[in-house]
Amino acid sequence: PIAAVVLAGGTGTRLYPATRSDRPKQFLSFGDEQSMLEATVERAGFADEVYVLTRPAFRDDVETLVPDVAVLTEPEPKDTGPALAYATHRVREEVGPCVVLALPSDHHIEGDFASTARRACRVAADTGRLVTIGVEPDRPATGYGYVEPGDDRGAYFEVESFTEKPGRERAERYLDDGYYWNSGTFAWTPEAFLDAAADTELGPLVAALDDGEPEQGYETVPSISVDYAVMESAADIAVVPADYEWDDLGTWDALARVFETDADGNAALGDYLALEAADNVIASDGHVSAVGVEDLVIASFDDRTLVADRDAVQRVRDVVEQLKTRE
Ligand code: GDD
Ligand code: MG
Repeated sequence: PIAAVVLAGGTGTRLYPATRSDRPKQFLSFGDEQSMLEATVERAGFADEVYVLTRPAFRDDVETLVPDVAVLTEPEPKDTGPALAYATHRVREEVGPCVVLALPSDHHIEGDFASTARRACRVAADTGRLVTIGVEPDRPATGYGYVEPGDDRGAYFEVESFTEKPGRERAERYLDDGYYWNSGTFAWTPEAFLDAAADTELGPLVAALDDGEPEQGYETVPSISVDYAVMESAADIAVVPADYEWDDLGTWDALARVFETDADGNAALGDYLALEAADNVIASDGHVSAVGVEDLVIASFDDRTLVADRDAVQRVRDVVEQLKTRE
């Protein structure tokens, strides 16, 4: 069987101030009727089992938004490395032998997700590899992981290397060299993933999970994403190219790619007025007027406003970090 695990425990700090610590990005809808979490759960509907993994504080919200799925809560939010070790272990206990399909809940997808995802799961089951669904890049983005394809095995490519969030120069080289983006949608058997994780910084957590002591394992495990913790060092990875349109809605610049823009290239959520203002991303729960500015993100929610260069959207994370030290 295929057991889908929807990751919904992050807060989405890069979408501040639309996101706040009690209002994470997966519960937002961004102009659609559905929240990103609902859309992801719907997309996972072809799987035999669907789990949502979140933190205890979000459990009630998750159960309200998607009442028909099983909710798992992790002891602490420590990024996707610990989260996926925890979920993979839990799912193996509950489902037995299976393929785990991990789905982030901040993606915008158009097209036939299920057939690519099924193929990824079949490759994971047949080969015992850790499988990532890859997306063909169209720009040297620095917010994604890059996957270097090797031998073509028909249903998948072997993977030569995996590099999480490279700098600009390397991203440009990878774009020229035909690498894929890691879409962050993974398929693996519990054995393959937990064996690979056991040899990494996640090892003590995996051992604690085997001993039935998740809390203890979480105490010492670092906060680290699965990409850095496992994918960069794993030996047997496969990439299955995506047959659908894809974007990550985790940063403000994504709005300009995903939503229709006005004649001057401004992408807007909410009421706005733009005078000689072009190529901005404007989002607010009130009204924003922009005059004579270009390539900015202007986001205003509640009593908070963010103004940023469109190229600096990854650094909104740092803003939230700094603000925390003030509270
Ligand atoms: N349960 C749980 N616990 N979920 C989490 C946690 C956690 O501690 N931290 C993050 N998540 C969830 C987020 O809510 C999101 O749905 C997903 O995990 C991915 O986290 P992001 O923080 O959005 O990762 P990213 O976008 O920077 O990078 C990842 O995705 C890219 C593609 O979208 C990486 O896998 C990149 O390599 C990849 O290119
Ligand atoms: Mg993301």
